[in-house]
Amino acid sequence: MTGIDLSGIDLTTETIRTERLVLRPFTENDVPAVLAACQDPGIQRWITALPVPYTEDDARFFIHEVAIGGRAAGRDLTVAIEADGRLVGSSGVHALQIHPLGPEIGYWLVPDARGRGYAAETAHALAEWALNLGARRVHLVADVANAASQSVARRAGFSQEGVLRSYLQYRDGSRGDAALFSRLPGD
Ligand SMILES: CC(C)(COP(=O)(O)OP(=O)(O)OC[C@H]1O[C@@H](n2cnc3c(N)ncnc32)[C@H](O)[C@@H]1OP(=O)(O)O)[C@@H](O)C(=O)NCCC(=O)NCCS
Repeated sequence: MTGIDLSGIDLTTETIRTERLVLRPFTENDVPAVLAACQDPGIQRWITALPVPYTEDDARFFIHEVAIGGRAAGRDLTVAIEADGRLVGSSGVHALQIHPLGPEIGYWLVPDARGRGYAAETAHALAEWALNLGARRVHLVADVANAASQSVARRAGFSQEGVLRSYLQYRDGSRGDAALFSRLPGD
C-alpha cells in the first residue's frame, strides 16, 4: 500500500550512515541511556506514547518490543541515533507497509545534543531511505505548539500540508492539533 519494497533488505541489521551520525539498531546495552533520556520533560511532553513515570521496564519494552520487534516483524525501522559513539536520540520510520498517509517518521534527542541539526539530518536520511525503497510519500506530525519539531520537519525537506485538528491525544486526556508534513519522491 505504501509502495515500500523490503525484499533484499535485512531490517534487523539495517544501519544508515549520514555525514555525522550512525542510525543503527537498538540493543539491550542502550537501556540505561534510553531510561535516562526519557526522564526529560520535553520528551515526556511531546512523545504521546511515552509512559510517565518512565521506568527501566519501559525502556526495556521499547528496545525489545518496539524497536527490535518492529524490525523483526517488518513493521518499523526504529534507529538509535549515535554521534561520536554516544547515543543522542531515537528516531524511526513507522508503519512501513500499511499507513494510508505513508510511513511516519518520529524523533527525540537528548537535551544536550539539541541545537546541532541532528534530528533534521536523521529525518532527512530516513525519508530518503523510505523513498528510495519505493514509498510514494512519507509523513510526520508535530503538535502545532511544538515549534522545534516543525522546524526539524522543514529542515528535513518536508512540506506542511495542513493541520489535523484534535489529532493528538495526551496522557492527561487533553488533545492537540497536529501540523501534518510530507515528503514525496520529487521533493
Ligand atoms: C524536536 C527535537 C528533536 C528538535 O531538536 P533539534 O533539531 O536539535 O532542535 P533545535 O534546538 O535545533 O531547535 C530546532 C528549531 O526550533 C527552534 N526552537 C526550539 N525550541 C523552540 C521554542 N520553544 N519555540 C520556538 N522555537 C524553538 C530553534 O530555534 C531551532 O530553529 P531553527 O531551525 O530556525 O534553527 C528536540 O527538541 C526534542 O527531542 N524534543 C522533544 C521530543 C519531540 O518533541 N519530538 C518530536 C515529536 S513530533
